[in-house]
Amino acid sequence: MSEAVAAAAGEFTIGGDLTVRRLGYGTMQLPGEGVWGESRDPDEAVRVLRRAVELGVNFIDTADAYGPFTADLLLKKALHPYADDLVIATKAGFARTGPGGWVPLGRPEYLRQQVELSLRNLGLERIDLLQLHRIDPKVPLADQIGELAKLQVEGKIRHLGLSEVSVEEIREAAAIAPIVSVQNLYNLSQRDAEPVLEYAEQNNLGFIPWFPLATGGLAKAGGPLDEIAREHDASPSQLALAWLLKRSPVMLPIPGTSSVAHVEDNVNAAKVELSDEEFNRLTDAVSR
Ligand SMILES: NC(=O)c1ccc[n+]([C@@H]2O[C@H](COP(=O)([O-])OP(=O)(O)OC[C@H]3O[C@@H](n4cnc5c(N)ncnc54)[C@H](OP(=O)(O)O)[C@@H]3O)[C@@H](O)[C@H]2O)c1
Repeated sequence: MSEAVAAAAGEFTIGGDLTVRRLGYGTMQLPGEGVWGESRDPDEAVRVLRRAVELGVNFIDTADAYGPFTADLLLKKALHPYADDLVIATKAGFARTGPGGWVPLGRPEYLRQQVELSLRNLGLERIDLLQLHRIDPKVPLADQIGELAKLQVEGKIRHLGLSEVSVEEIREAAAIAPIVSVQNLYNLSQRDAEPVLEYAEQNNLGFIPWFPLATGGLAKAGGPLDEIAREHDASPSQLALAWLLKRSPVMLPIPGTSSVAHVEDNVNAAKVELSDEEFNRLTDAVSR
């Protein structure tokens, strides 16, 4: 039975044709320590993914680099064949050099290889949203975006997005091929990406804040949101996510978790409505 709790977060249409519920899920907590290797509890990982979708999540962020490939294979195991309305956003552009090792790698042949591997591992014929995980400073941007644009023309990618970029970099990339989304570090306690968020709002790009819970720092008991959460009858994590959802209509949070209890907690943030006064109080409560 579908509970579709996530529907309460409202919708956003990415790139003019991909309509998603604004509260999504990110798969980075599913692989092992250092985002490397097998999940510590693969059965729970499958349950987490299925529970997210059961609760109405239809926007899932993943990456070839998570494992590598552990998260994508879990997604396929848990959810393939995918529901028609499920949008899987993935990424390419990092080489994994070991547990905790991440090196930008944007050579066209590597990007192509990773896109082909993602199609295979996810069991897809086309990727709805492919985000360049990082711009590789050693490779001309035109070669990186150019190769992804070729894959788009070949029908293997529907839309292109960027990750961890400046406004200037979005402009440069958009001059090469249409860009529909941006994914930068952003949460209640880390707001350096504010100018990028404003650019996204002005240009109707989806803004996907990574580390929406500050890697759990905003969700934990005894954290900065604990007291307000008790007053509000919500969890700290729900307040952090409700704050993001209210901050902007283009905001698409993708909280990550490896537990069913936490995915239930997080998706229920869609139902937490903050007044303007509560929003401002949260904004001021957490020092940046
Ligand atoms: N583009 C990029 O460069 C980039 C970088 C990092 C992340 N991302 C994306 O952003 C997504 C989110 O980031 P993230 O998962 O690293 O960090 P996050 O969502 O900010 O926080 C995840 C952490 O919070 C804990 N947590 C989650 N829900 C909780 C709850 N309700 N109560 C208490 N603790 C809770 C998780 O532990 P448990 O597992 O125990 O719940 C985990 O340690 C990733 O999954 C990934 O898709 C992208």
